[in-house]
Amino acid sequence: MKLNKTILILGSSLLLTMASSNIFATTILKLSHNQTRNHPVNKAMMYMAKAAKAYSNGDLIIRIYPDSQLGTQRESLELLQNGAIAMAKSNAAELEAFAPAYGVFNLPYIFKDRAQYYRVMQGEIGESILQSSKDKGFIGLTFYDAGARSFYAKKPIRTPNDLKGLKVRVQLSQTAIAMVEALGGHPTPLAYGELYTALQQGVVDAAENNITALTINRHGEVAKFYSLDEHTMVPDVLVISTKVWNNLSKSNQVALKRACDESMLKMKELWTETENTERLKAIKMGVTFIKVDKAPFVKAVQPMIKKLTEKNPLLSKLVEDINQVR
Ligand code: GCU
Repeated sequence: MKLNKTILILGSSLLLTMASSNIFATTILKLSHNQTRNHPVNKAMMYMAKAAKAYSNGDLIIRIYPDSQLGTQRESLELLQNGAIAMAKSNAAELEAFAPAYGVFNLPYIFKDRAQYYRVMQGEIGESILQSSKDKGFIGLTFYDAGARSFYAKKPIRTPNDLKGLKVRVQLSQTAIAMVEALGGHPTPLAYGELYTALQQGVVDAAENNITALTINRHGEVAKFYSLDEHTMVPDVLVISTKVWNNLSKSNQVALKRACDESMLKMKELWTETENTERLKAIKMGVTFIKVDKAPFVKAVQPMIKKLTEKNPLLSKLVEDINQVR
């Protein structure tokens, strides 16, 4: 009887210790982003959150706030730098202003194909870019496929000539701005959330993005021509505050990184499906897809690429390294 009681006391104190250590070990990480709940990148991050919880034995709880609930993409990065949130999903265009290495993704026609793009993101070059913002208060955890970006407008764009004089919305990326200028358009930086109305009211004449902009973000309602010039492949990027990262235990860092790597592959699958389904939806919305000869676009941006790489040794080294990746 006495033995039973001792076992009971020992057992319950063990349970209490376990419970309290679990309470202390639980880390809630808030993640902000600007896409909708049904966007594939939100699904990939939900997958990541579930995997991170499992691999950390319940220690890591990631709460996702989609739809710019906590602010625009830029504001989310600022919240993260101020310590108000732990994680954010941004993209390589937005991040270029914080860490110039991301600029390489914004150079037009830099990748030969999707296979090379993935080898870059999953290899040493990708990892060095993810780490390059360390001193800015955050590091990248993984890239998410966001397809190829092309121009879309109220009128067909078949050659760079058709962009002449058009106000083209771009992200706040020096490279995107230089690219649109090189193609003859007037670059107009705007937050993504303001773009639908800007297109509708004629504040801008054109924009450039992947196919989900037409359907999931409904831009196909106000811009009916999507030109398949596929000038850039700009990945989304999941970032975490350097401080939060450094405070995680080694095993939780491993768990989170593993979950992120796996979610990148999940996103690859999701993106392939998405391109097909969203293209059909866009056609149903009345969007015309225009096959374009890419050669004049490629040609028009060469001087700009040369100029940017000549004055930026980091960029020129990254371009060289990417060219070595087969
Ligand atoms: C892509 C990307 C977003 C980004 C948007 C933009 O859709 O996924 O993160 O905000 O482009 O052009 O602003």
